[in-house]
Amino acid sequence: MSLLVRGAHQVVTPTGSAARRGPELAALHILPGAVVRCDGPRISFVGDEAEHARRFEPADEVLDAEGGCVLPGFVDPHTHPVWAGVREDELDRRLRGESYMEIARSGGGINATVRATRAATADELLESTLRRLDAFLLHGTTTIEAKSGYGLELETELRMLEVIAEASRRHPVDLHPTCLAAHEVPPEHRADPEAWVRRVIEEIHPAVAGRGLAEAVDVFCERGVFSLDQTRRLLADAPRYGWRIHLHADELSPLGGAELAVELGALSADHLMCVTEAGVAALAGSDTVAVLLPGTSFFLRLGYAPARTLIDAGCAVALATDCNPGSSPTQSMPMILALACLGAGMSVAEALTAATLNAAAALGRAHELGSLEEGKLGDLVVLAGPSHHQLVYRYGVNSVRHVVKGGRVVVREGRRTG
Ligand code: NIG
Ligand code: FE
Repeated sequence: MSLLVRGAHQVVTPTGSAARRGPELAALHILPGAVVRCDGPRISFVGDEAEHARRFEPADEVLDAEGGCVLPGFVDPHTHPVWAGVREDELDRRLRGESYMEIARSGGGINATVRATRAATADELLESTLRRLDAFLLHGTTTIEAKSGYGLELETELRMLEVIAEASRRHPVDLHPTCLAAHEVPPEHRADPEAWVRRVIEEIHPAVAGRGLAEAVDVFCERGVFSLDQTRRLLADAPRYGWRIHLHADELSPLGGAELAVELGALSADHLMCVTEAGVAALAGSDTVAVLLPGTSFFLRLGYAPARTLIDAGCAVALATDCNPGSSPTQSMPMILALACLGAGMSVAEALTAATLNAAAALGRAHELGSLEEGKLGDLVVLAGPSHHQLVYRYGVNSVRHVVKGGRVVVREGRRTG
């Protein structure tokens, strides 16, 4: 099966198989009138239409971009997409002045979602997760990282990870599973958080690893949640399990999570709203990707991570939604790009690379995802407008018209196909 995407005003993509840094973050390839061809799941040609006609047989299927802009599919390297229940009530509480942490400590927050998620069946969780994946796809996201962390007990953590695996099998969006059993201290362990840390290390992590349900591990390293020392112990077995590390680092307080992520060779250090100068320097001198989540800053009405400082220091910056029911309930990467630019001062070109190639690097997949180049997976988006600027210029509007995943058209005219 072959697919030709033609009729684009331009094809816009970063290039390469590693994260881009500094000025290179904005170095996009812009190919006016170019075509993209997929043979099977991979890209076999990107370039001039006449050259394509000379070198290839006509494709089995043609997708007409009708003057739109063709981009790589978005990669969202930090999401919590499996949950039950709603926390809309917390929105009004925060608008009246209560903080995220105050709400969490009064029985809301992560533990409110934990209660609802423990009570939900696997089928219910799968159903709501698949609906959320549709929303990701309709906004141009073709691959996500997906965390557990609303079970906080063995059985429900396993159920969440099994739902992630099943959703990845059933849905065009690919999911990379991360075990986040250390997302919060569950209510039954509030009196003795250390006992919970030991349970995660001795019971939950080995069970998840033994079943092969995670590729990576994460910890919410935060004042009042898990300390640096506890985080270090929670991550000590990651190499033995073959797990990569993502870390919720310096989100609400400057604990030094970025430095710890670098020390442990983490794939990514995420959030970084409160990253220190030492944290920026550590990230700049490492391969750990700085994953920024401007949706969380916007939704919690907090400051943005210092995107310009991180980029100018030479860090590999990526963007993600943080999709979750408490601090960023969105699946829209275009919205995240708008916030990264208009809120955190990135350029549109930087934000596009951060949401594609660098986001793929944050999942260890920059060699096969995140840019439109021969040999990479045929994951792409056709926008309704002529350039990538549409994503930010028309903020809050979904400009994604068609989506191709692994060489197959999965969204046409803004609707799921097949
Ligand atoms: O990334 N920081 C911790 N976890 C999520 C929020 C989860 C929730 O509120 O349900 C985050 O912001
Ligand atoms: Fe998160």
